[in-house]
Amino acid sequence: MPRAQRLGRYFLLDRIACGGMAEIYRARSFDDEGREVTVAIKRVLGHLIEDDEFIQMLSDEAEIAAYLRHPAIAQVFEFARAGNDFFIAMEYVDGKDLRTILERCRAQQVHLPIADCLYVTAEIAAALDVAHTQLDKHGDWLGLIHRDVSPSNVLLGYSGAVKLCDFGIAKGTLSRVQTKTGVIKGKVKYMSPEQAMGRRLDARSDLFSLGSCLYEMLTLQPPFQGGSEMDLIFRVRDAKFRPARDLRREIPEEVERLLGRLMARSRGARYQTSEEVRGAVIEVLGRVAPGYRRSRLASFLRATFASEIEAELRALDEWEIDQSAPQSVPEIQTLSPVSGAEARAPQSPRRRPTAPGPALHDRDTEIIRNRRPQQGDEPTTNVVRKRGR
Ligand SMILES: Nc1ncnc2c1ncn2[C@@H]1O[C@H](COP(=O)(O)OP(=O)(O)O)[C@@H](O)[C@H]1O
Ligand SMILES: [Mg+2]
Repeated sequence: MPRAQRLGRYFLLDRIACGGMAEIYRARSFDDEGREVTVAIKRVLGHLIEDDEFIQMLSDEAEIAAYLRHPAIAQVFEFARAGNDFFIAMEYVDGKDLRTILERCRAQQVHLPIADCLYVTAEIAAALDVAHTQLDKHGDWLGLIHRDVSPSNVLLGYSGAVKLCDFGIAKGTLSRVQTKTGVIKGKVKYMSPEQAMGRRLDARSDLFSLGSCLYEMLTLQPPFQGGSEMDLIFRVRDAKFRPARDLRREIPEEVERLLGRLMARSRGARYQTSEEVRGAVIEVLGRVAPGYRRSRLASFLRATFASEIEAELRALDEWEIDQSAPQSVPEIQTLSPVSGAEARAPQSPRRRPTAPGPALHDRDTEIIRNRRPQQGDEPTTNVVRKRGR
């Protein structure tokens, strides 16, 4: 029986994913009444915990993500530190990311139903609308741009729920890597032309990327592909793509028109707001599949991932969680708690943490409030800086 590793009030179970910056775990915790809660823990990889700039970015972004409350956004509970570990605790989405789903569809040569593609797009547009229009607690516009709307950041729950994730952490990485090498590999495919050219971005860039995701959902092929990285950048810049109907005949013309407006090269020719996109997509969905329900997507996913679902459930039962065991790491310190009482991180059933607020008394870490974000700003609200460096 595998034994769950303890991270403060969280018990890490299986690792779901591992990227260049962090590992994602499925984890157990307990709410105030002692009920089990499954959460996702994004733990920063060892080589980055010494990187002040990176930790600062993560803190900024967790703070921003904490503002965003919407059923189509994976809820962030907190950004915290336990001993040498930095991690984000967030809502666990029981399902698969869209990248994995597209890979499965390609392998099995099955198409995603067109109505489901439209529904997912409408949900992500709703999530983006929240991000693009979010104000901070002083009523100032945050000016948030996701910058990495791509299949791996779209999570689809087996229940048919759609959740956009990876807010800002990707943004942080992007800006970071961009300063070093110009572009980031693998993400270019879903960039807007202005992003691929390193121009200043606004919310319409995310909408272009959403268009690229819709295109790939519909055709199982990304709209822009290139032999070399440079080649790909030029293709994205030119925003020329094969009509989706060439690849899948049953795509209605009005869906093709949606794609054309989402992925217009010139920003002025695109839909201007996420709300506009959502409205347009829902209208088309109403005609393509009147009375659409998300249970249709749920059935599709359950059929496509039947064997995994069973194995994942079984795996959950196999973990041994020993709450009485001494913790291998000190009690956690919340660095960026979610503002407001509604979205509190699950608490330990045995003892509630005495100070769930920011860890201002931590000797090595301080939290510094910055000036309020202003229109056109890159959002920055919170800075964690290590002393003595
Ligand atoms: N809240 C979550 N629930 C379930 N799976 C998740 C969650 N967050 C991330 N994942 C999985 O982990 C992968 C990487 O997560 P992400 O936050 O995008 O990290 P990265 O910064 O490495 O891209 C996602 O593509 C998804 O498969
Ligand atoms: Mg990601």
